[in-house]
Amino acid sequence: MKQILMIAAIIIVMTAGLASSGPGDSIKSIDLPDVKTVLADGPGKDTSEKFCNLCHSLDYITMQPRFSRVQWTGTVNKMIKTFGAPISDEDAKVIINYLATAYGNGK
Ligand code: HEC
Repeated sequence: MKQILMIAAIIIVMTAGLASSGPGDSIKSIDLPDVKTVLADGPGKDTSEKFCNLCHSLDYITMQPRFSRVQWTGTVNKMIKTFGAPISDEDAKVIINYLATAYGNGK
């Protein structure tokens, strides 16, 4: 009998402990810095910023090594065909020209 009382007491103490640390106590928040990447100046910059910022940050452009025109064409086509970027052929040309110039390696 004494043992049963002990076990009951332990269970009560344990549940009380759990109840006092409910999920409401542990919610924390952090403020992320407002990072905005701006592309290099040049013709086609606005079109590129408009479309290439829809799904991900413009960092994806600025953090690449300098690509050739062929490589940028491949990247832009991948965004359109594989990932469904809503970019017309005309805008794609403007963007590729811009990227090959502003972020190209001259090839
Ligand atoms: C419809 C959404 C969408 C749009 C719009 C978009 N991207 Fe992407 N992009 C993606 C996805 C998804 C990935 C792959 C993400 C990952 O792997 O983390 C990606 C990855 C990339 C990468 C990383 C390297 C690679 O090839 O995967 C580059 C560079 C890039 N995008 C450039 C661009 C450029 C330039 C544009 C504008 C023409 C653009 N993106 C527009 C969806 C998009």
